[in-house]
Amino acid sequence: MNTAEYITHSPEETALLGKQLAQRMHSVSVVALYGGLGAGKTAFVSGVAQGFDCRQRASSPTYNIVNEYYGTRRVCHFDMYRITDSERLYEIGWEDYIDSDALCIVEWSENIEDALPPDCMKITIEKLSETDRRIRVME
Ligand SMILES: Nc1ncnc2c1ncn2[C@@H]1O[C@H](COP(=O)(O)OP(=O)(O)OP(=O)(O)O)[C@@H](O)[C@H]1O
Ligand SMILES: [Mg+2]
Repeated sequence: MNTAEYITHSPEETALLGKQLAQRMHSVSVVALYGGLGAGKTAFVSGVAQGFDCRQRASSPTYNIVNEYYGTRRVCHFDMYRITDSERLYEIGWEDYIDSDALCIVEWSENIEDALPPDCMKITIEKLSETDRRIRVME
């Protein structure tokens, strides 16, 4: 496994990193994000969506579980915060999403660990201070 590590100092920098890393996600099906409340997952996803030239602004899909953005590739942005059982995951059509051509990028992957494909890209965001984040990419 290949691990890379970055430090960012603002939400804008985290988004920019997401935009740059999007170039490495063209053949990736699932990106699993880890990191607690306010880590910067949504900020990171907004940059990834920009990297795929999606015009919609990424926002937290907490209530509807998935937001979809359309650019050079369809980007499906999940927030699994409220997913506590596999039945609910089945209801939202998770299997169909991961079998599709879309990039599935997942906040709160901790909650669906068993349902993640083994070859997914894993990204952890760790809060170092109010403004600093350590971002680790495992692929
Ligand atoms: N380096 C940084 N990168 C990202 N966000 C930062 C950074 N420094 C400070 N922040 C702040 O941290 C917060 C990150 O919010 P964001 O919604 O992206 O987190 P999240 O991980 O999606 O949270 P949630 O678990 O609620 O979905 C924002 O308030 C942002 O301004
Ligand atoms: Mg979020």
